[in-house]
Amino acid sequence: MYLTTLHLRSFRNYLEQRVHFQAQKTIILGNNAQGKSNLLEAVELLATLKSHRSFKDRDLVLKGANLAQVSATIKRLYNQHELSILFRVSGRRTLELNQEILRRQIDFLGTLNAVQFSSNDLDLVRGTPEYRRHWLDLLLVQLEPLYSYILHQYQQVLKQRNALLKQHKEHTYSDFSSELPSSLQLWDQQLAETGSRVTRRRARVIERLAPLAEAWHNQITSNSERLEIKYAPNVTCAYDQPQQVQQAFLDKLEQRRIPEFQLGTTVVGPHRDDLEFSINQTSAKFYGSQGQQRTLVLSLKLAELQLIEEVIGEPPLLLLDDVLAELDPTRQSQLLQVIQERYQTLITTTHLASFAEPWLKNAQILTVKEGKID
Ligand SMILES: Nc1ncnc2c1ncn2[C@@H]1O[C@H](COP(=O)(O)OP(=O)(O)O)[C@@H](O)[C@H]1O
Ligand SMILES: [Mg+2]
Repeated sequence: MYLTTLHLRSFRNYLEQRVHFQAQKTIILGNNAQGKSNLLEAVELLATLKSHRSFKDRDLVLKGANLAQVSATIKRLYNQHELSILFRVSGRRTLELNQEILRRQIDFLGTLNAVQFSSNDLDLVRGTPEYRRHWLDLLLVQLEPLYSYILHQYQQVLKQRNALLKQHKEHTYSDFSSELPSSLQLWDQQLAETGSRVTRRRARVIERLAPLAEAWHNQITSNSERLEIKYAPNVTCAYDQPQQVQQAFLDKLEQRRIPEFQLGTTVVGPHRDDLEFSINQTSAKFYGSQGQQRTLVLSLKLAELQLIEEVIGEPPLLLLDDVLAELDPTRQSQLLQVIQERYQTLITTTHLASFAEPWLKNAQILTVKEGKID
């Protein structure tokens, strides 16, 4: 797929900006705080309806304005689409596909696919489980738009169940169980149903992603490092059996009654999942060198590109935010070999000199300054 034009109106520090993409590689050059990452964020929003930098739409709207709009034209293999998102300082978004207003997010998702790779992504290895879950969720949303709905449902149930537990916090177990079984049981059931949908999809995507990433890591390190990726779900079970997954949830909820009442919050479910990375059978998070961790993240990103392409049937976009300068020349050239002319790639940088000459070949160079692009 190919992003041909991007139009930003009152989005972040852009007042009104149209960008025409004219090459497979576009380098967005500019000093710090000029709007490079903001531009990639607009593309990320079109692909996932989420930004990894902000949860609030009001942050996306130019200060002083009420509305922001991001729109784009995307060429796919067999057709062309217009996407548009209207963000409001207060109120809901308006989503459009081919000039038609959509009521459901899942009809918007899947038109544009992108893999974002930024210098913050070392947090995939070093950061909290939340960072890894978020990454996995954004990937799933792109592979299977319905997942955004499934995840939302789970989060709603979790919120309500937590509210109930909080209300009754510090009641003793015996008080609680005599008073409340019916409503809590109902929430247990809902949590198990929606939670097992999330867990099963996460398990499935890791099953497909892990061998790809492991193979890349192997290749980049010339077979000297063996990467292993494992899903560490909060509820473990046989994922291919929906009934069993739900039963495993209910069993674990039963086991965790007392801590849940004491803490006043839900301690069972995919909001406590994690992923484990090990290199040569040692935890990459705790014992990996910086170089190993960088290679791991690169392998994950390459696997993501490959998996999206396999599932969607077209190469997604690649967004490289400040990341090239941090890769050594060997890894830069490995990445370039994979991208070649295959993936449309948007690359931000403060200095053209920070990466090797072949990256500049046939590239379109845009300069951004204070929210304006030349
Ligand atoms: N809603 C907003 N309205 C106006 N300016 C904003 C808004 N959000 C961010 N900015 C500005 O955008 C700039 C950061 O842009 P960014 O794309 O992150 O920079 P960089 O070029 O370093 O990647 C900052 O100057 C910030 O103040
Ligand atoms: Mg930036």
